Amino acid sequence: MKDFIFKLPTKIIFGEGTSLNIKPVLDQYGIRKVMVVTDGGIASTQGFKDLIAGLDSQKVDYVLFTEAIADPPIEAVDEAKDILLESGADGVIAVGGGSSIDTSKAMCMLATNEGSVREYLFGGTKTVTNRPLPLIAIPTTAGSGSEVTAASVITDNQNNIKLSVTHEYLMPLVAIVDPLMHIGMPPMITASTGMDALTHAIEAYVSLNAEPISDMYAEKCIEMIGKNIRTAMFNPTNIEARSQMAIASILGAAAMVNAGLGAVHGISQAMGGIAHTPHGIGNSLLLPYVMEMNVPGNPAKFAKIAKLLGENIEGLSERDAAELSVKAVRKMAFDLRIPDSLKDLDIPVTPDMFDTIVDGTMGYRLLAVNPVKVRREDVYAILEKANH
Ligand SMILES: NC(=O)c1ccc[n+]([C@@H]2O[C@H](COP(=O)([O-])OP(=O)(O)OC[C@H]3O[C@@H](n4cnc5c(N)ncnc54)[C@H](O)[C@@H]3O)[C@@H](O)[C@H]2O)c1
Ligand SMILES: [Fe+2]
Repeated sequence: MKDFIFKLPTKIIFGEGTSLNIKPVLDQYGIRKVMVVTDGGIASTQGFKDLIAGLDSQKVDYVLFTEAIADPPIEAVDEAKDILLESGADGVIAVGGGSSIDTSKAMCMLATNEGSVREYLFGGTKTVTNRPLPLIAIPTTAGSGSEVTAASVITDNQNNIKLSVTHEYLMPLVAIVDPLMHIGMPPMITASTGMDALTHAIEAYVSLNAEPISDMYAEKCIEMIGKNIRTAMFNPTNIEARSQMAIASILGAAAMVNAGLGAVHGISQAMGGIAHTPHGIGNSLLLPYVMEMNVPGNPAKFAKIAKLLGENIEGLSERDAAELSVKAVRKMAFDLRIPDSLKDLDIPVTPDMFDTIVDGTMGYRLLAVNPVKVRREDVYAILEKANH
């Protein structure tokens, strides 16, 4: 077995109604004034209003920032950091999906590390040296897993690309995981963010950096999502399915933080940069195409994925069983009504974008741990297949 390091330092507080009792967590970390960061969509939900009522009733000193933007751009994050510094808050509560949590991670980091977030992105000139302001994350999607990861994904609109700041200091101190915050999540967001979590688990599971601990998290995540994602979408108030999805997304993220990702995220991040394809939709669309390419890299693990997703693999050759995993994922995305063609996206990804997407993909750091070596022509082939 090869050497590895496994790390998951974020404290996870799980339970219905936990988002209404935040004061003890703030007190534990000595936070006297907190900024609550979210986006406009989430700010109008009942779950968020209840959370704020909870802060009021617990007499928490807080300021609100509801201007987080989906797929946060560099300029917006830099401006948000200035507002954080002016507010005098000494900690942040991020309420939302990956976009609000990633915005908050970057704000907390920039509050104690000089410069623009641009300088800290992959390939940039600065590295994080000082501990960020303390961050408490309250996820409202069961998807990105950003509540336990070390990454903040930021959009560079000048260069049409999404890049990450990755440093273990960015991991939130605490994730308060309250399934009641997920009840109002619209069906397509439930489906697409859940498919993002599944993608994390599958990419981490077959990654060249996978190891026994990350495998354990990935396997459990795949199984839980297979059993619960349809219920969470079509029966949104089913609190057990919501809870299972919320935990599954954390397990998938734990696997991803430690074992890495692969070509799905590489291509989808590049697609997000140029066409603003929502992260979960892009991943879901690309996942079966990339799995087809990756099966020869690790047929045993793909066969296990098929089994974890409920396929009957008895009596099949390993290769046939492995290919069933692709079918199972296609079936899932079809059931969830997620498009499987680039032409069917709200903002279609068109062939004139392919060169930029391929360039972005080839520059993706984690492409190196994809189970088969990815060449430019492989990415073109995937995009062409997905453009049917
Ligand atoms: N940091 C990481 O480790 C990591 C991992 C994966 C993805 N990401 C990034 O996270 C972002 C995507 O995050 P996401 O998929 O969680 O979605 P998101 O945060 O972008 O939210 C998508 C939309 O859903 C709405 N929404 C979210 N929760 C809701 C709820 N409970 N009720 C009603 N509306 C709700 C939001 O208002 C928003 O309009 C992308 O930028 C992606 O690149 C980061
Ligand atoms: Fe993701």
